[in-house]
Amino acid sequence: MQQDALTFAIRPNASPMPEADRLKAFENLGFGTLFSDHMAVIRWSADKGWHSAEVTARAPFPLDPAAAVLHYAQEIFEGMKAYRAADGRAVLFRPEENARRFNESARRMAMPELPEALFLEAVEQLVRADAKWIPAAEGSSLYLRPFMFASEAFLGVRPSKEYIFCVIASPVGPYFKGGAKPVSIWVSEHYTRAAAGGTGAAKCGGNYAGSLVAQAAAYEHGCDQVVFLDAAEHRWLEELGGMNVFIVMADGSLVTPPLGGTILPGITRKSLIALAKDLGYTVREERYAFEDWKADVASGKAKEAFACGTAAVVAAIGKVKSPDGEFVINAGETGPVTAKLRDTLVGIQRGQTNDAHGWLKVLEGV
Ligand code: PLP
Ligand code: COI
Repeated sequence: MQQDALTFAIRPNASPMPEADRLKAFENLGFGTLFSDHMAVIRWSADKGWHSAEVTARAPFPLDPAAAVLHYAQEIFEGMKAYRAADGRAVLFRPEENARRFNESARRMAMPELPEALFLEAVEQLVRADAKWIPAAEGSSLYLRPFMFASEAFLGVRPSKEYIFCVIASPVGPYFKGGAKPVSIWVSEHYTRAAAGGTGAAKCGGNYAGSLVAQAAAYEHGCDQVVFLDAAEHRWLEELGGMNVFIVMADGSLVTPPLGGTILPGITRKSLIALAKDLGYTVREERYAFEDWKADVASGKAKEAFACGTAAVVAAIGKVKSPDGEFVINAGETGPVTAKLRDTLVGIQRGQTNDAHGWLKVLEGV
């Protein structure tokens, strides 16, 4: 029972945020605190499949206290952005990649797949309804959060028979408080994020719940983000709490941990690998030990490092701290390779650089 097309009922919000309030809020955008007027919703049940697609006023969901998501965390999400390009067009960046990954997550979490066309239509309908919520200032965008959760009221442990898919939108500025300043990271030597056979490659809420104590430790040590090592040997770099990681070597090559089921296959990661290759860099998707990183920074073999993801874009890593001490990368400044890759990616996303790979989806008339 897979419906590829549903008609969305459009129910405009009767009391949208006043224009003046929205514009005032746009003056100081952080990450994920302000939300647009609408949400897109599609429901699924075992007997009806996908149904009841709508764009409606953003509002709380009435949820039975026995709803499966509240007990067994059957939930997945995506993160993507709509940009106001320099020439005024509204664009999405590789949205079909998010649609595909959403279904990979759904399969891992025993949830129904949402036809990619429906995922894309829900996102597009929401952006159309909330077009004025796409901020235009440099470094800002409309962050889109598609997600799905198990809504059946049932306490037995088995896949739910009812789900709600929803997309909400949040105008955002920089993810990190320091804006474009290099970030510091805390190496979690005790807690790990994902083991082989686990859910590391899925974008499920539970992965983030399990990461919070390590992220809290990062904050306690004055760091912006946690970086996880592998679960088997506590030795190999994996990824950050919400970003993938790259190391720039002195020979001009880039190293990033390989996808192998324990890290999220980032769309920014994949895009940067392609852009780096276009720019003539060699990219190695190889295991890289934390001990080697430390030694390579000391010897000058490793020159730069950066974190990347939809929310954070590309953020230079300026300092790495672990229980054994800390080291500084590139004197705590953003290095030239990191800056070049960031500018190239952001240039494409804002329609200022030739989109040679055809990654932008233009939303006509938005
Ligand atoms: N790794 C984790 C754990 C994430 O949460 C994210 C963010 O989505 C990423 C990596 C980067 O993925 P993407 O570039 O697709 O946003
Ligand atoms: C994103 O970059 O979209 C993410 O999902 C990371 C987020 C959890 C901060």
